[in-house]
Amino acid sequence: MGTRWSQESSADEGQPTERNRQWAPARRVLLAVLTVSLLLGSSVLLVFIFRNCGPPPCDTPVCLDLLARYVASGNSSVDPCTDFFSLACGRATGDNNPFQDLAEENKSRLRRILETPGSWDPGSGEEKAFRFYSSCMDTQAIEDAGAGPLKQVIEELGGWRISGNWTSLDFNQTLKLLMSRYGHFPFFRAYLRPHPAPPHTPVIQIDQPEFDAPLKQEQEQKIYAQIVREYLTYLNQLGTLLGGDPLKVQQHAALSITITSQLFQLLRPLEQRQAQGNLFQTVTIGQLQEMAPAIDWLSCLQATFTPMSLSPSQPLVVHDLEYVKNMSHLVEELLLKNRDFLQSHMILGLVGTLSPALDSKFQEARRSLNEKLRELTERPPLPVYPRWMKCVEETGTYFEPTLAALFVREAFGSSTQSAAMELFTAVKEALITRLKRLSWMNEETQKEAKDRVTHLQVKIGAPEWALKPELAKQEYSDIQLGPNFLQSVLSCARSLRARIVQNFLKPFPQHRWQVSAWGVNAYYSISDHVVVFPAGLLQPPFFHPGYPRAVNFGAAGSIMAHKLLHVFYQFLLPGGCPSCDNNALQEASLCLERHYAAFPLPNRTTFNSSLTFLENAADVGGLSIAWQAYSKSLTRYRGETTLPNQDLSSQQLFFRSYAQMMCRKPSPQDSEDIHSPPSLRILGPLSHLPAFARYFHCPRGTVMNPSVHCQLW
Ligand SMILES: *[C@@H]1O[C@H](CO)[C@@H](O)[C@H](O)[C@H]1NC(C)=O
Ligand SMILES: *[C@@H]1O[C@H](CO)[C@@H](O)[C@H](O)[C@H]1NC(C)=O
Ligand SMILES: *[C@@H]1O[C@H](CO)[C@@H](O)[C@H](O)[C@H]1NC(C)=O
Ligand SMILES: *[C@@H]1O[C@H](CO)[C@@H](O)[C@H](O)[C@H]1NC(C)=O
Ligand SMILES: *[C@@H]1O[C@H](CO)[C@@H](O)[C@H](O)[C@H]1NC(C)=O
Ligand SMILES: *[C@@H]1O[C@H](CO)[C@@H](O)[C@H](O)[C@H]1NC(C)=O
Ligand SMILES: *[C@@H]1O[C@H](CO)[C@@H](O)[C@H](O)[C@H]1NC(C)=O
Repeated sequence: MGTRWSQESSADEGQPTERNRQWAPARRVLLAVLTVSLLLGSSVLLVFIFRNCGPPPCDTPVCLDLLARYVASGNSSVDPCTDFFSLACGRATGDNNPFQDLAEENKSRLRRILETPGSWDPGSGEEKAFRFYSSCMDTQAIEDAGAGPLKQVIEELGGWRISGNWTSLDFNQTLKLLMSRYGHFPFFRAYLRPHPAPPHTPVIQIDQPEFDAPLKQEQEQKIYAQIVREYLTYLNQLGTLLGGDPLKVQQHAALSITITSQLFQLLRPLEQRQAQGNLFQTVTIGQLQEMAPAIDWLSCLQATFTPMSLSPSQPLVVHDLEYVKNMSHLVEELLLKNRDFLQSHMILGLVGTLSPALDSKFQEARRSLNEKLRELTERPPLPVYPRWMKCVEETGTYFEPTLAALFVREAFGSSTQSAAMELFTAVKEALITRLKRLSWMNEETQKEAKDRVTHLQVKIGAPEWALKPELAKQEYSDIQLGPNFLQSVLSCARSLRARIVQNFLKPFPQHRWQVSAWGVNAYYSISDHVVVFPAGLLQPPFFHPGYPRAVNFGAAGSIMAHKLLHVFYQFLLPGGCPSCDNNALQEASLCLERHYAAFPLPNRTTFNSSLTFLENAADVGGLSIAWQAYSKSLTRYRGETTLPNQDLSSQQLFFRSYAQMMCRKPSPQDSEDIHSPPSLRILGPLSHLPAFARYFHCPRGTVMNPSVHCQLW
């Protein structure tokens, strides 16, 4: 390969890299020469020696795989000093970034696990998870069952006028069943979440409902009419699929749309509620009953949140009390005049919710509605995922502990775990050293900041509980699979809801993970003061115990340092650090904004530099801290390797590994993205680090070697 990577000597920082034992005699000679050369003060000799015995290439399959990725996405004829983005990512073709690719690859790993025949104890969590996955993949059985399983559900709800018998079940009874057995909330949503205000104890919250179609009348008349038309077509399809007479279906569908649109009119935008200062209000169930009498709150909520035990004095958080009152009023009116239609409205909504578990005709109706709505509201179409991926996701949702354990067993053994922990420790130490050098923190703040880092908890891999097989097995005793896929999904969903409630009720000393073990999103939780790095993230191409350390520090190490800096976000907000030298802090912040503003933006990209400031700061700081940790590790440990045939020094490989993580085909930037576009996430932090220019020999004044360096992190 013709490359323009400059040959690099690792002697610059006096960090000899050592090889394996066969080299001992050579090392002794080297040492002697070294001493002599040091005595002579001659660095020319040194450079010569290290060039000839740099780190040996790693040619294991994982390294060759990584090499292939680098070759496929990069363009080695680009000058690293002018456009490192194109050098690393110039031939990247996918719309996904490597994080999204990794997420997909990890799902396909789960698929392989779920499709490998195994023998599991009957009734165990594994057996149920495998059986659920295979019934999800058995599309023939789902097609054969057709609308049958759904008709049965409708009957249980008292039927409807569109088809079958209509037994006029009590309204409250139907609503209660919809909420508790089917997880469908036609008029409002109810969920258990931490209270919005400290100390954040879990509380039942009543929020605005979600709708299948945006029937906001404020939008342009023409678009509104088109949305109504598409939605009507969809509801008509559902009704006829369920055996309704087309004329009657048309009537009920039209009224359902009227009801949705009336509910929409009662919604108030978040900004308006914010302005009025009543984003959420605490009321008891008894008080809510008086304010919104159409609904039997106690019995509906009790059924939904068993095993909690509720009474009229139970406090709730209501997100928009005015909406709930007006909604109750509307429901009362509809009950008087249009009871039949209200029933159909509730059931049509449920069919929409359940459509992923139904046959292809229902799914197709739903997909086509979504596609048209996205077109009308000018959003890009959603990608179409293969069936197996949806089934893996569903299985993962309902059987998370089981899948987490299977995934970790396969992909995150104890050696990977300990290598990841070692990397984290090195990065954390580098951060602590860094804190002492920050001129905008006074000594007291530095100490406080250090305490925060020392007391931070870290979770790597998977939550501890997920790894206990007994637990995983016990937890699904309430799941009944069959007789059809719809009933299996409903049973799993009920079991999951009950588990969520139970988990909230248990005193829970540990952190509740917000991602699954195979997820790729690391995060910092402010409330629990813990950073989480799931096993799914610590995979190739970001991390592997067999990679050259430069690769691990450059990618996973930078992510870790980035997340650690989230601990200090608040310091960077206006007035966020009263005891800091705010002039110095502000100067450093402005310096960083100017640094980013100086880069040319790729075509069709716009971005908001104040929106992205915090993430830019964490990118720049994260890279620099990971670099510091890597440099230190070179002096401490032996046995560094590098990638074959790349003419990359270890230091250069570190930078390449960082850049690789951000590669994506240039595409329009989402205006609400808090991250900078990929090219800036590469150029901004790399050019800010003097070592980059040093190891790539970039002349002063080139893009990658600007004269300014900001003193933020
Ligand atoms: C690689 O970069 C060179 C120099 O900028 C450019 O001429 C060439 O078209 C690029 N190749 C690809 C495949 O993008
Ligand atoms: C996750 O995806 C990467 C591909 O980027 C793959 O190499 C790795 O093996 C996957 N991990 C698992 C556990 O599937
Ligand atoms: C309606 O109810 C009658 C009597 O209860 C029953 O015989 C009939 O099968 C029901 N029809 C449907 C479609 O369920
Ligand atoms: C809710 O009802 C009240 C009283 O009838 C009315 O003043 C208010 O405008 C309604 N709010 C909305 C958003 O329709
Ligand atoms: C539902 O229950 C509430 C509370 O008991 C009651 O006020 C309301 O009238 C009931 N609705 C119907 C239609 O029975
Ligand atoms: C930017 O993109 C537009 C449309 O995609 C194209 O017409 C224009 O030539 C591009 N400009 C540059 C500088 O690439
Ligand atoms: C950029 O984002 C900030 C913070 O969200 C916002 O106040 C500002 O109006 C935005 N500027 C532009 C030009 O969109």
